[in-house]
Amino acid sequence: IHVDWDAVTAEKGGYEHFMLKEIHEQPKAYRDTMLGRIDHANHQVVLPELKLSVEQIKNIRNVHIVACGTAYNAGLIGRTVIEQFARIPVENDVASEYRYRSPIITPETLVIVVSQSGETADTLAALREARANGAHVLAITNVVGSSIARDADDVLVTLAGPEIAVASTKAYTSQLIAFYLFGLYLAQVRGTMNKEEVAHVLAAMEALPEQVEAMLGQADPIKTYAEHIAKHKHLFFIGRGQDYAVVQEGSLKLKEISYIHSEAYAAGELKHGTLALIEEGIPVISLVTQESVMEKTVSNIKEVKARGAEVLAISYEEHAAELLKSVDHVITIPKTLPILTAAISVVTLQLLAYYASLALGHDVDKPRNLAKSVTVE
Ligand code: AGP
Repeated sequence: IHVDWDAVTAEKGGYEHFMLKEIHEQPKAYRDTMLGRIDHANHQVVLPELKLSVEQIKNIRNVHIVACGTAYNAGLIGRTVIEQFARIPVENDVASEYRYRSPIITPETLVIVVSQSGETADTLAALREARANGAHVLAITNVVGSSIARDADDVLVTLAGPEIAVASTKAYTSQLIAFYLFGLYLAQVRGTMNKEEVAHVLAAMEALPEQVEAMLGQADPIKTYAEHIAKHKHLFFIGRGQDYAVVQEGSLKLKEISYIHSEAYAAGELKHGTLALIEEGIPVISLVTQESVMEKTVSNIKEVKARGAEVLAISYEEHAAELLKSVDHVITIPKTLPILTAAISVVTLQLLAYYASLALGHDVDKPRNLAKSVTVE
């Protein structure tokens, strides 16, 4: 018998691309990142690896989350998580901009840098600047021995395993898990959540891997829709609140590997200019998971529909029938707490980008002009 075999094919473990393999590794990455960090008996998060003292945590006055690309997008979710759980004001910064805006850093500022590789030059430079100004710097990274891990005061490791595809998937979602854990930890120490509230979130977090597994088994509607959008040159993503943060990642992913131009917009902001770009047949992908603002998002969907847009809504099964009165297609996802929804909804957008790139015949794992690790400023 002759078997075609090479090391790369073997590493892909039966998947056509590293990106698809890494998308499928997410349930494991969630479990691994949570492993040993949840004390089930006492319903609390334990992060013994942190040097950050109880005293320091109580004194934190503001948080800056600094990163690039997908890691920056994870930080947008980190902000909603820390603000909701621990009630500390958070700012997000793109690392290449951070140093040049003279950020206001005090010894009570916690700076969180996020980086899969731990080698991104802009993020490393931001980290050094923050430390030089007296901030305590926590790095959320996937690489233990990386430059960023070495230079930070504290490291919270994501356990996503090696990520090979240039388009980041499991690193992003593991960063979300790290933010959930860290946000809860801050809340415990500062007393902004009680035991029952923490236990409620932890139970929902522990259900995430199975929910994502279920989604991965039902990717056909996403593939069909991806083949449809592959015929378009431009499209829009809209969402509100946490959904807005997630569509920013979805838009980046789509641009990066399919080369289809897209913009992610806060659904309520379109009418302040960008609505002028909506024309007959343009796809608008709306992420509609935040029930507190669902009605408002539906109004925004009607605004684009009235201008001829073709709208896909990604939402929960229970809203599908109602949404279908206003949109052209619905893709459903499993339900979780509003604050955790990114860890589920983003998987749909990752698959969408993957299948669009595939349909267009691009090199999914190695998109043009991009490198896995960006070590120049
Ligand atoms: C993600 O798909 C990108 N390839 C890119 O935005 C990446 O997230 C960014 O360059 C940051 O990399 P890092 O997480 O290794 O610092």
